[in-house]
Amino acid sequence: MNYRRMFMIGLSIMALLSINWTVAEAQDGKGIFKSKGCGDCHAVEGPSKLKNIEDRVKQKGPDLWFAGSKFKPRYLKTWLEKPSDLTGVKYSELLPVKGKNSHPALSGKEASDVSNYLMTLKDKDMATGIIDDKKKMKRSALFKAGTLFQKTQVCFGCHLFKPKKRAKRAIGGFSGPSLVGAKKRLTGDWVYSYLKDQKRYVPLGRMPIYQGPTFQAYPDKDLKALAQYIVNLY
Ligand code: HEC
Ligand code: HEC
Repeated sequence: MNYRRMFMIGLSIMALLSINWTVAEAQDGKGIFKSKGCGDCHAVEGPSKLKNIEDRVKQKGPDLWFAGSKFKPRYLKTWLEKPSDLTGVKYSELLPVKGKNSHPALSGKEASDVSNYLMTLKDKDMATGIIDDKKKMKRSALFKAGTLFQKTQVCFGCHLFKPKKRAKRAIGGFSGPSLVGAKKRLTGDWVYSYLKDQKRYVPLGRMPIYQGPTFQAYPDKDLKALAQYIVNLY
């Protein structure tokens, strides 16, 4: 056997080991998720079974059954280690959050295992390959999408965002999740899928509906532009 062959075999063994490693970590992550009581506040099986507003008020945290489709792989580990407030209100209420960062935090290894587990939770029916997260928007497209976000509808009335990369401060409201750093947090395909059919992910949510038969509906191309805009936000 020549060296080249041995080297290739060695490489394949290493690749297989690293896949097994991630799978094992995801299994550990599932265990940690259970033992830490994360499931008391987060649903990991979808689609949502919420029926009425009473169910919604009882819900203690956002659904995570589509986490692997929604979040960028590296984001979750960081957030789980150092959770920051996403909104300025209590979940299911409109009262201001008292005491910052009250979300339970995980240690580095736990955060990595749980993140690997959450990334296995995919929305199997979500269309992918529609929004290219890495695409830099041209100036004119950015301006148009910015208008859709800031003027056509006042999205930032409920969402913090940075209008420019180097803006010193974020501006906007606090009742919806912050979109500061959405570039690192969300996938474009999920944002598009969410904007197309919010109820699938957040039934009885507080965000106005921007699709279907309503006065504020955006055509499909605008929803795509908005998704592209959001995943370009710093
Ligand atoms: C008492 C309820 C509660 C428990 C227990 C809880 N969470 Fe949460 N979680 C929340 C709420 C509420 C939010 C939304 C935070 C916000 O809007 O600021 C959230 C948000 C999240 C997010 C979304 C982060 C994002 O950027 O969107 C993840 C992931 C998450 N939790 C994972 C976990 C894990 C893992 C555990 C267990 C270690 C856990 N949670 C335990 C209530 C809870
Ligand atoms: C009245 C307040 C309000 C307005 C206006 C609003 N949103 Fe939201 N948005 C929310 C809330 C609240 C959520 C969390 C889900 C829910 O409860 O409906 C949300 C969730 C989202 C999310 C998912 C974020 C996440 O982390 O889960 C995106 C993306 C989003 N909104 C984009 C938009 C865009 C684009 C517009 C304008 C066309 C808009 N929002 C206008 C309140 C609002």
